[in-house]
Amino acid sequence: MAKNTATLTDNETGESIELNILHPTQGPKAIDVSQLYKKTGLLTYDPGFMSTASCWSDITYLDGDQGLLEYRGYSIDQLAEKGSFMETCYLLLNGELPNKEELDSFINLVTYHTMLHEQMKRFYSGFRRDAHPMATMVGVVGALSAFYHEYMDIADEKDRYDAAILLIAKMPTIAAWSYRYANGTPFVYPNNNLSYAENFLHMMFSLPSEKYIASPIMVRALEVILITHADHEQNASTSTVRLAGSSEANPFAAIAAGIASLWGPAHGGANEAAVKMLIEISKSKEDVDYFIEKAKDKTNNFRLMGFGHRVYKSYDPRAKIIRDLCHQIIDGGLAKEEHKELLDIAMTLEKVALEDEYFVKRKLYPNVDFYSGIIFLSMGIPLNMFTVMFAMARTIGWISHWHEMMGDNKTRISRPRQLYTGKSHRDYVPLAKR
Ligand code: ACO
Repeated sequence: MAKNTATLTDNETGESIELNILHPTQGPKAIDVSQLYKKTGLLTYDPGFMSTASCWSDITYLDGDQGLLEYRGYSIDQLAEKGSFMETCYLLLNGELPNKEELDSFINLVTYHTMLHEQMKRFYSGFRRDAHPMATMVGVVGALSAFYHEYMDIADEKDRYDAAILLIAKMPTIAAWSYRYANGTPFVYPNNNLSYAENFLHMMFSLPSEKYIASPIMVRALEVILITHADHEQNASTSTVRLAGSSEANPFAAIAAGIASLWGPAHGGANEAAVKMLIEISKSKEDVDYFIEKAKDKTNNFRLMGFGHRVYKSYDPRAKIIRDLCHQIIDGGLAKEEHKELLDIAMTLEKVALEDEYFVKRKLYPNVDFYSGIIFLSMGIPLNMFTVMFAMARTIGWISHWHEMMGDNKTRISRPRQLYTGKSHRDYVPLAKR
């Protein structure tokens, strides 16, 4: 087969250049512009990376038009229905599903690294009581780099794998403690007899005076939430982790950068924003139509939170799984009346939006964050912890991408260019003459 190329011609100079077209195993082909500047002095311009593939990756594939999401080739529906979060972590990190022995040893490894260094407890008391738990997460996860730096060689694959295990293992402890600190209740140590999801709920809700017994439906719901949020290829936070890591920075610091990126309401912060919006609607005298009109009004910056996605132009497959989970929790009698009401509002909003020309034309559908908050509320997780839950789940995705990138000899420091619009050279004017 002839080499697939595209020709770029500068109409001003008449000069042309042949650019290779790259073929991934699935998904859109890409024009290789990596040598463009060297050969022509031209840059490419793509704010928001609307048309840019930043790397090759074997980890996650998603087809936004078909609403398809696969981790290492396995569909999210099958993993959420039949798999466990630990299997998913193993799969994302290692590339294959584990056999029984591999899974047991992986679980053992994670379970025996869940404790935090006792000194780390002191970091928490440096934060204000009312600090947002995501702020605490950025700080405490970043601080892990102070504990694991000197003896970690990021050029060594084994050290990199160990860093991944430490992060997966410690994230629930860090997350639960960020809640306990704000809540004013004592930190609860991990319990090695519990599963990953159960252990997190234990650290969130057990008290010295009363042990928390998690309902099996809630444990499974959390497991599914963790699986469905585990990875999503080159989203903003994962790209941030890759960008920070590309300078060979400490992996814990790179993950802290990812947490910061996830926090925003246009990304992982949307789960908190979506539930706040549903609560606002439930308390308002206005009906759902009013809020739909408000979301369409370009003079108003209100958006339907948990709706729309850069890549999905059909129903987000994760939203479907989580919506069904919401129904199971409500049907299982595990949700309070006010949470049922929020689900009703969400369902009505979805129905009205999906029939409205504005949303249809722009292919705006519920995303992963639209329904997850209702499950979190039913679990007793407070609003400001929602994005922390997302961060806990996404840690495996971030660290798998970091691991892949660091092992790829094509990796170079990420260094975009710009189109400068500032002043041309001018001479310094002494203060007295300004
Ligand atoms: N409500 C109302 N209008 C919307 C919404 C929304 N939620 N989302 C997009 N639009 C409109 C935009 O106003 C724009 O309209 P226009 O073409 O008339 O200007 C059009 O749809 C395209 O939207 P963009 O913002 O250009 O799309 P982009 O890909 O840049 O943004 C994003 C995607 C950030 C997710 C956006 O849909 C949004 O802000 N949604 C709400 C926040 C949210 O739920 N974020 C979570 C995403 S999932 C995740 O990160 C885990």
